[in-house]
Amino acid sequence: QVEADLAQTVRPGWLSRWGKTRRHLTLGPLVGMGMFGQVIQAKLKTPAGNITVAAKAVRRRDIQCYRNFYREAAILVAVHEDQHHDNLRSNIIQLLGFINEPTHKYILMEYASNGNLLRLLRQARRQVGPQSLPRHLRYAVHIARALQELQRLALTHRDVAARNVLITAHHVAKLADFGQARDVYTAVQYVPNDKHGIEQPAKPKDNVKNEVFPLNWTALESLETGEYTCQSDVWSFGVLLWEIVTMGQEPRYHGNDQPTCQQLARTLRRGIRLRRPPKCSVEMYDVMMSCWRESPPTRPGPDEVEMKLVHLRNAMI
Ligand code: ADE
Repeated sequence: QVEADLAQTVRPGWLSRWGKTRRHLTLGPLVGMGMFGQVIQAKLKTPAGNITVAAKAVRRRDIQCYRNFYREAAILVAVHEDQHHDNLRSNIIQLLGFINEPTHKYILMEYASNGNLLRLLRQARRQVGPQSLPRHLRYAVHIARALQELQRLALTHRDVAARNVLITAHHVAKLADFGQARDVYTAVQYVPNDKHGIEQPAKPKDNVKNEVFPLNWTALESLETGEYTCQSDVWSFGVLLWEIVTMGQEPRYHGNDQPTCQQLARTLRRGIRLRRPPKCSVEMYDVMMSCWRESPPTRPGPDEVEMKLVHLRNAMI
C-alpha cells in the first residue's frame, strides 16, 4: 500500500509513457553504490538497437529506499516532460525509462562512461596536475547550466556536489542523483504540526554524519531551517567549485573534526567560510564567496555564475 501511495507521487500515466519490461534489459556489472541506490551497467533493447544504460535500483528493500526511488523518478519525469526540455542540450542526466515490477525496480538513464567528477578530479591530481583546471571548469559551466534548467522548473536538487556530477563519453558534465530533489512550491512551505499530509522540510539532525547528510555542502539557511531554494543549490555549487580547484579534496571547516549541524551553522553565521585554496586565484575565490553570501537573494543566480566562469576560463586558455 505504501508503495502504491508512493507511485502516485509520480505524474499520472508515467509508466505507460516511460515503462519498460525486464525483457528489454540485460544487467551487467555493478558500477556504483550510494546510500539508497545501486547503479548497474546494463543493455537496453530499443527499436533503434541495443544501448548501454545505467540502471539504478533500490539498495535495500525498505521504505526509505523506495521513497527515494519514487522521488527521483518523479523529478526526472518532470524534467523530461517539460516542453522546453532538450536532451541534446541538457546538462541533466537523460532518463530512458523505468522498470517497475514488484521485485525489480530500475530507473534507466544514459550511461556516462567517464564516471563521476570527484573520481576524475582525484585521478587528475595524480596524472595531470593543476593545468587541467580549464577542462574541469568547463564541467562547472555545464552544471551552472543544469541549475538554470532546474530553476526554470522550480526544482531544487539539494545535493549538488562533485560526486553527483557524471561525465559522458563526449566530456559533457551532467547533473545526476536526484533522490533528494524536490519541487520548490510543495516542499518549502513549512506546515507546523503536519496534520495535512504535507511533508515537513527535512532539517538535518544534529547527529548526522557527513556520509549520510552533505553538511559541508549545505547552505547556512538550510542547516538552520531545513529550507531549500535555488539559491541554496547555488551555495552547494560554490562548494563544488572549491572541490574542482582543490582537485577533489574534502571540504572541511574545522580541520578533521566534523562539526554538528548546529556548530557548523554558528561557524557560518560568524562569517567563516572555506578558505581560499593555495593556487586558487582571487577572482575564482570571489565567485565561490559570492555563492556563500549569508543572504540567499544576494547570491548570484546560476546564469550569472555561468557568465563569470566562462569569462574566467577564457582568460586562462
Ligand atoms: N554511476 C552512477 N550513475 C551512473 C551513470 N548514469 N553512468 C555511469 N556511471 C554511473
